[in-house]
Amino acid sequence: MLVVSSSSSKELGLKIAEKLNARIADFEVKRFADGEIYIRAKENIENEQLVLIGNTYPDENLVELLFMQDLIQDLIDSKDFITIVPYYGYARQDRRFLDGESIASRTCAELLEVNCNRIITVNLHKDDIRNYFKKKVKNLIAGKAIAELADRANVDVVLSPDMGSFYLAKDVGDVLKIESAHFDKKRISDRSVEATLSTDVKGKNVLLVDDIISTGSTIIAASKILRANGAKSVHVVCVHGLFLKNSIERIKKVCDSVNASDTLKSKATSYSVASLIADAVLSIA
Ligand code: R5P
Repeated sequence: MLVVSSSSSKELGLKIAEKLNARIADFEVKRFADGEIYIRAKENIENEQLVLIGNTYPDENLVELLFMQDLIQDLIDSKDFITIVPYYGYARQDRRFLDGESIASRTCAELLEVNCNRIITVNLHKDDIRNYFKKKVKNLIAGKAIAELADRANVDVVLSPDMGSFYLAKDVGDVLKIESAHFDKKRISDRSVEATLSTDVKGKNVLLVDDIISTGSTIIAASKILRANGAKSVHVVCVHGLFLKNSIERIKKVCDSVNASDTLKSKATSYSVASLIADAVLSIA
């Protein structure tokens, strides 16, 4: 088996390749002076089982992934390879909130399946996004990996900052056999949120989980409420850490720890989804 890693997922690709006992394919990727991308397969990839891994965020990585898919299907004369998208960018534009808006999540789905038949994602912001694909998509949930991390922090309760990511808090809570609950969140703007909580957290070690941390507003608002309600400690774990605008530092001011997976690389990356992905590849390869 050969793993082709796009620029966005080199380290994760390497870990996945190790777990699959596979080899990293020799691809050259560079940019011309005007920023246009150049991709070349430097080895014959015909007759190989292929796994391509890359994020659709930011935009240049989306373009690189699409070009790689097209090159691979062209060289192997088949769409029968696996594309893994650890972080599916544009997932939060999954419907038309205002008249006239584009549904970018759907556009990405349509583009990703032009040249590839088998797609794996990790904690899609909404599972319904899979319906935008005509082909079957396997969406992996990192609950077990988060639970392993949380186990070390002696957590009493797992909370999600809103209903949308409660499925993840519940998953982690079920593995750890502890209570799980969620905040009710109202988004005021893209940088500010209001959260309310009805669970008793006094004297408890709280694990706050979310699929994505972007500006950090959601997690910070929730953490402040937990502190105000007497939580003993607040540990934050997300799957996809975008961490815009110094949000790691801002979150650390109100939380005991902040952790993210390696779907995106940041200073908070502390656990890997490589095993989860490798197992899924083996199950569909
Ligand atoms: C929203 O529904 C997501 O699950 C996250 O809570 C949200 O995207 C986080 O964004 P931010 O860090 O900017 O508050």
